[in-house]
Amino acid sequence: MRENVEPPSTEAAAFFDEMADKYDEIWELPWYAWLFARLHTLIFQNIIRPYAPQTVLDVGCGTGFQSFLYAAFRARVVGIDASPQMVRIAQEKAAQFPAERGRLLTIPALFPFIRPYNRWIQEHIDSGRPEEYFSPVFAVADARRLPFLDETFDHVNCCGSILSLVPEYPLVLAEIARVLKPGGTLFLEAEGRWNGDLLWTLADALAGGRQYGMPWEQARAMVRPSFSAPVTVDYPFEHASLRLTLFTRRGLWRDLQRVGLKVLRNWTIHSLTNVIPSPLLHRKDVPGGILWLFRVLAWAEKRIPLPLPGCSLAFVAQKASALDEGNSGKASQ
Ligand SMILES: C[S@@+](CC[C@H](N)C(=O)[O-])C[C@H]1O[C@@H](n2cnc3c(N)ncnc32)[C@H](O)[C@@H]1O
Repeated sequence: MRENVEPPSTEAAAFFDEMADKYDEIWELPWYAWLFARLHTLIFQNIIRPYAPQTVLDVGCGTGFQSFLYAAFRARVVGIDASPQMVRIAQEKAAQFPAERGRLLTIPALFPFIRPYNRWIQEHIDSGRPEEYFSPVFAVADARRLPFLDETFDHVNCCGSILSLVPEYPLVLAEIARVLKPGGTLFLEAEGRWNGDLLWTLADALAGGRQYGMPWEQARAMVRPSFSAPVTVDYPFEHASLRLTLFTRRGLWRDLQRVGLKVLRNWTIHSLTNVIPSPLLHRKDVPGGILWLFRVLAWAEKRIPLPLPGCSLAFVAQKASALDEGNSGKASQ
């Protein structure tokens, strides 16, 4: 890591500093339990299994959800985050790794649909001996100015809406592309603009915005042209000064291409489950009938291969390697 990089002080860092001690409880809410189970499974199937990256940078690592996942598959992981308190929690958890790796990655099974994920995690990570693992290293740093030399990492992870929280997100993408080795991969997740929940948001805004905390003017801005551009809204309810950028699949695809990252695969998450208004799923005491419907929708969402609009956009992208450049040179001759 480069020396003497000033720790960032951003609205987002202050926001996450405040919630750091309780952040891991979001795994107990059905909305996030499903989101993280789905993301982690996609990471395993599309990054860990085919590429087995040895060196991983987790940008906006928070308390380390994905850092521990990569480390549990024997990668050397560095996690950086703007929030000193989130980094403190991640470091406390790192002290329990690898002995507690199963527990660190198991999502509380309050919801039956999480059990297959937990079983899968146990099967895949219980096989190794503790001395085969490297504890992730966590540090405070700014995603807009990554303190690493060019071409340092095999893989970069950027999940949990980091891009949506940084208004200068093109800088973050450029930094990710810079620190990736040629041929290196990126797993990116960001907030989607077009999704079923938008209809509920608009209806709620018309009725006063009590459930989604979004005034009509902002809700309307989300459906204005241009349809492939990102829109920025106030973070609902909590910090008025914190802004959230919502991306479209096509727009983010273009942004990735612009920094030299080629999209290999992409998915949406909460594309069918958002038939249910999201505030109903952001709580622990979800009524049984709604939980049952959620379970059916989640099951269908995982199996329907259509790129439906969804609340989260996930991408696997790859930086061009010398081999690709050689091939494209040959092709154009
Ligand atoms: C929703 S959390 C996601 C954490 C983790 N990746 C996860 O999936 O649980 C978003 C994180 O982004 C971090 N963040 C926001 N702006 C950042 C920036 N400019 N540089 C680094 N981290 C940032 C926040 O501090 C917060 O921990």
